[in-house]
Amino acid sequence: MWPQAWQSAEVGLSFPRREFDPALPTLLCVHGSGGRGAEFLPMLELLGGAANAAAIDLPGHGETPGPGRSEVADYVAWLAAFLEAGPIKPVLLGNSLGGAIALGMALSRPELLSGIVSWGSGARLRVLPKIIDGLAHDFEPTVEYLAQMAFADATDPALKEQGRREMALTAPEVLHGDYSACDRFDVMARLGEIALPCLVVCGDGDKLTPLKYSQYLAANIAGAKLAVIPGAGHLIHAEQPEAGARALADFVAAT
Ligand code: COA
Repeated sequence: MWPQAWQSAEVGLSFPRREFDPALPTLLCVHGSGGRGAEFLPMLELLGGAANAAAIDLPGHGETPGPGRSEVADYVAWLAAFLEAGPIKPVLLGNSLGGAIALGMALSRPELLSGIVSWGSGARLRVLPKIIDGLAHDFEPTVEYLAQMAFADATDPALKEQGRREMALTAPEVLHGDYSACDRFDVMARLGEIALPCLVVCGDGDKLTPLKYSQYLAANIAGAKLAVIPGAGHLIHAEQPEAGARALADFVAAT
């Protein structure tokens, strides 16, 4: 049974169909801007018995009530309050904005974690002005543009369309807050302070957080390993779930 705090009605959590095993490490996934935890499930089902796994909905996303936040530090504070209830010290995997949250947690509350995985993210996440402005003034076409940017060129168009539909379900002010938070995020000069085990994963076709960002993380976080996933864009878990699960399994088992 998952601990009580992980079954709270106030926090949206998605779980693969496996019993919780207290002897195993736990992987907790955090989605990116305008995402939701359930998007990780196809990959988490493939993790097998390597770890307990869950994916959380940030405030204002999926099943977690709002408001959303517009600073990474505020999402970090929210997630830290959730983890403080214990007793699990997860490996925290974060995609994009979620990766910024994982880095923020590693810098400010490392005692709550046993490792981090940067999953298509970076230490600085400047956002194209046309995205920030477009989300405020021209929502639908901007979501369409983001959905194109989020996937590798060769990804199945049906998956791209599903991604667009799901992102469009996010309240415009929440999505705008997410990208504004990314735009202000910058821990490039602080990576040397991170002492947790770290895995960095990036799709070779990621257009929103290019491979260069992950190479920088791997070069500047002590002991970090880099895994590049061929044929994936920014949403590795949806585009290449088998390769994503393979990249994760050994790292999580060793933490
Ligand atoms: N890791 C390593 N290097 C990084 C980095 C990161 N996280 N973020 C920026 N840099 C590098 C850039 O590659 C650039 O290097 P260069 O001078 O050798 O080319 C330099 O730092 C400055 O880049 P940046 O801070 O991004 O400013 P910019 O004014 O050059 O560009 C954007 C701003 C928005 C055009 C650019 O960041 C971009 O294209 N972003 C990707 C698209 C996007 O909006 N993504 C959303 C992310 S959530």
